[in-house]
Amino acid sequence: MDIVGVLAVAFWAMLPAYVPNNAAVLVGGGPPIDGGRTWNGRRLLGDGKTWLGTAGGIAAGAALALGLNAIRPAITDAVAGLPEFTLVAAITLPAGALLGDIAASFLKRRTGRERGAAFPGLDQLDFVVGSLGLTVLLAPEWFVATFTLPVLAVVLVITPVLHVGTNLVAYMLSLKSEPW
Ligand code: CTP
Ligand code: MG
Repeated sequence: MDIVGVLAVAFWAMLPAYVPNNAAVLVGGGPPIDGGRTWNGRRLLGDGKTWLGTAGGIAAGAALALGLNAIRPAITDAVAGLPEFTLVAAITLPAGALLGDIAASFLKRRTGRERGAAFPGLDQLDFVVGSLGLTVLLAPEWFVATFTLPVLAVVLVITPVLHVGTNLVAYMLSLKSEPW
């Protein structure tokens, strides 16, 4: 597969993992997942991780995966090799992304960072690790067929770039209070 094909597969396969964080920003709010609980005087996760944002983010990512499946037959002649999402992968990609984000918030609170504080590196890769990790666990065959080594390499390079870019846009639109 040429580099354009690899880029297309990487972007396509990761779209259901990219969208949940942004959807969570839009629909988030209400009771936090940690219910306000603290550990050693600091919040377990903080007010930035809510049930509504998590459920909405997973729903948005899964809906997108099914939507991509629906348009796939129409574009598969132009771009060959785009994978169809299995139902399990349609859920593990967004759910894993938000799990990674939640785990990162847990680490941020343990290291004394308040809600919204930046943690360079972790902020950009937490959801890739969560998304790919949950998918390789629960949909191993689909994972191996989709994420070849070149695709994985491209994902690790383009994801931080896209993440910084979309968060900057969300910040400029006043949807997020920090640009990361
Ligand atoms: N959000 C949510 N539920 C999630 C993830 C995000 O409701 N599981 C919403 C929250 O409103 C959050 C916003 O999306 O404030 C931005 O997400 P993020 O940057 O991950 O949270 P922060 O508020 O920056 O908190 P943290 O420091 O814990 O990352
Ligand atoms: Mg944040």
